[in-house]
Amino acid sequence: MSEKFIEGRIVGRVDYTDSLFSLRFDAPLDPFVAGQYCRAGLILPGARGAEVAMRPYSMVNAPDQHPHEILLTLVPQAVGGIVSPALHQLRVGDAICIGPRANGFFSMPEVPDAEVLWCLATGTGIGPFMSILHTAAPWQKFRRIVVVHAVRYAAELAYRSAFELLSQKHNGALTYVPFVSREAAPDALSGRIPAAIADGRLEARVGITLTPENSHCMLCGNPQMVTDTMVTLESKGLRKHRRRTPGQITTEAYW
Ligand SMILES: Cc1cc2nc3c(=O)[nH]c(=O)nc-3n(C[C@H](O)[C@H](O)[C@H](O)COP(=O)(O)OP(=O)(O)OC[C@H]3O[C@@H](n4cnc5c(N)ncnc54)[C@H](O)[C@@H]3O)c2cc1C
Ligand SMILES: NC(=O)c1ccc[n+]([C@@H]2O[C@H](COP(=O)([O-])OP(=O)(O)OC[C@H]3O[C@@H](n4cnc5c(N)ncnc54)[C@H](OP(=O)(O)O)[C@@H]3O)[C@@H](O)[C@H]2O)c1
Repeated sequence: MSEKFIEGRIVGRVDYTDSLFSLRFDAPLDPFVAGQYCRAGLILPGARGAEVAMRPYSMVNAPDQHPHEILLTLVPQAVGGIVSPALHQLRVGDAICIGPRANGFFSMPEVPDAEVLWCLATGTGIGPFMSILHTAAPWQKFRRIVVVHAVRYAAELAYRSAFELLSQKHNGALTYVPFVSREAAPDALSGRIPAAIADGRLEARVGITLTPENSHCMLCGNPQMVTDTMVTLESKGLRKHRRRTPGQITTEAYW
């Protein structure tokens, strides 16, 4: 049975690289919570004729911001991409299929209070943090917020200037740390997030010690990054957060 969808309209698009892009769209979505994801896609030819093919995408805009926005990476057809190559073709004025209701638990109501919130993202996993940090809740829950964005190439540091503006707006309560792994980038850390936590480089850069007593970590993006970072954080005494067994780690894996 075909998935339920409403029609949205593309009203803007930003290309960061040949394979990283954002789509802005108008659509009558139900109210959502910052950090949740919608489903987006297109009607594509399928085995049983044309049918809608949709995938989850984190909302980048805060619930009170319009238009809606999602940040995507193009997974080429040659390596198994189906929906993302089709969405990559869209231009302003085109139609997009959207699931009417956003879902997910990667959001402030699910995260306990702490002194410091660490937002750790790879690639397009930065999207939900844009949405969350444009709401009031995290600034009320945490004294300091650290946003870490790890990408292969510096051009993929989407929303960097928006995070720097947020830092100014909140009088330095936000620290933004870019990681670039596959080229030299003067003001970014090199290598990967878990290694930089293990060897103390991340804490040294931010000037905050990451402990189970003072921190909550939200991890989003590449599933292997999520797994590897969990292992590193567990070695520091942090535990996965569950409603029944509170901990200090909340995760969202994208594949
Ligand atoms: C909760 C959730 C939220 C998501 N939010 C986003 C988002 O905000 N932006 C986004 O681009 N994707 C996001 N994804 C992934 C997205 O749903 C699709 O899987 C992706 O767009 C590829 O779709 P596809 O049909 O082209 O290929 P698929 O058949 O879905 O995936 C093929 C392969 O592509 C790789 N892949 C998938 N997604 C990514 C990615 N984001 N970055 C790098 N490699 C990837 C994996 O190896 C995967 O096995 C999210 C996934 C989940 C579960
Ligand atoms: N980015 C591109 O130039 C590019 C170009 C064409 C197509 N694509 C498509 O996009 C997909 C994903 O690209 P992406 O760059 O957004 O995502 P990604 O492969 O998840 O890489 C993003 C960042 O996460 C790091 N990372 C990867 N595995 C990790 C782990 N286990 N622990 C910690 N950090 C880890 C990467 O470091 P490392 O560099 O060390 O891996 C990189 O800094 C590709 O599979 C491809 O289909 C990307």
